[in-house]
Amino acid sequence: MRALQISQLTGPDDIELVEVDEPSPEHMLAPDGGVVIEVRAAGVSFPEVLQSRGEYQFKPPTPFVPGAEVAGVVRSVPDGSGFAEGDRVAAMTMLGGFAEVAVAPPYLTFALPDELEFAEGAGLVLNYHTAYFSLVTRGRLTAGETVLVHGAAGGVGTATLQVAKGLGARTIAIVSSDEKEQVAREAGADEVLRSDGPWKDQAKELGGADLVIDPVGGDRFTDSLRTLKEEGRLVVVGFTGGSIPEVKVNRLLLNNTEIIGAGWGAYVMPKPQVNREIGEAIGKLVASGHVRPLVGARFPLERGVEALKLIDSRGATGKVVLEMGA
Ligand SMILES: NC(=O)c1ccc[n+]([C@@H]2O[C@H](COP(=O)([O-])OP(=O)(O)OC[C@H]3O[C@@H](n4cnc5c(N)ncnc54)[C@H](OP(=O)(O)O)[C@@H]3O)[C@@H](O)[C@H]2O)c1
Repeated sequence: MRALQISQLTGPDDIELVEVDEPSPEHMLAPDGGVVIEVRAAGVSFPEVLQSRGEYQFKPPTPFVPGAEVAGVVRSVPDGSGFAEGDRVAAMTMLGGFAEVAVAPPYLTFALPDELEFAEGAGLVLNYHTAYFSLVTRGRLTAGETVLVHGAAGGVGTATLQVAKGLGARTIAIVSSDEKEQVAREAGADEVLRSDGPWKDQAKELGGADLVIDPVGGDRFTDSLRTLKEEGRLVVVGFTGGSIPEVKVNRLLLNNTEIIGAGWGAYVMPKPQVNREIGEAIGKLVASGHVRPLVGARFPLERGVEALKLIDSRGATGKVVLEMGA
């Protein structure tokens, strides 16, 4: 089969299209057998950019086929998986998704709703499960609260806006350009503020936030805390801004606020039931029309380098997707 392979940790430019054997049905997270999927579309994310440089926390030995999530058609299943040959699914493969055939653990495989095409399905699991986990499981969002979202036109950002709106929240998006403002509005932002402007003061004028979802980090972190209302929560999701923020904790005491970590993968991997519950909640939000992954760019498999470079250059909006046979 055709696949994209990382054989040296020198960045996106050196990812190669290769012919490799199809994977066997075992998966590192499902040694008794995973769901074998004919991949129609694979989602590309920031971690693959980091992996291409050996900078991600999960460092597989080289050479390896990256690709954490896919959408496609089931080819074979282990006993008791709940899926059947021919089912349309979206799944986390963790690795190996940038290929024509990939394997996912059954508990990280979800039915792909009929409303969604495969490219949309390739953006459904990682970003939307992270969004729900950050907003609800960790952030304790309730209807009527105000959520401020950083990196709001990105993959996690657009998913967070859609899920928050679907759960009855008011949303304030922070973005860096006009184009990204449009994307954030399309994803359901009620207010959009610019990251290079006085967003902290503007957010306070808008009444402040009950919840901040932050996949960016960096030097905006302290200002995020300043936008929180009493009993507000800031959820740490990622660090696309580069630096890991440090904070003086007296701010938390003075304003009765909280900082909460949200590491979706580490939390849900050993908890199949939590995965199922989040999957069902997302399924309902798809059915109610609130969740529809925004596909920002599509590339055929052989142009994977361009897909990773788009994310690396901060040019991506919504989900970047590789399509097999496109
Ligand atoms: N905690 C978890 O469980 C979990 C799960 C999934 C992903 N993540 C993490 O969440 C983060 C966001 O992922 P994503 O898929 O949403 O990424 P993305 O689509 O590339 O979006 C990230 C956003 O970050 C902003 N940004 C600010 N400074 C940046 C910089 N120097 N370089 C690139 N982007 C910058 C950009 O928005 P502006 O240009 O508008 O500022 C961009 O739209 C990543 O760090 C990822 O690893 C965490």
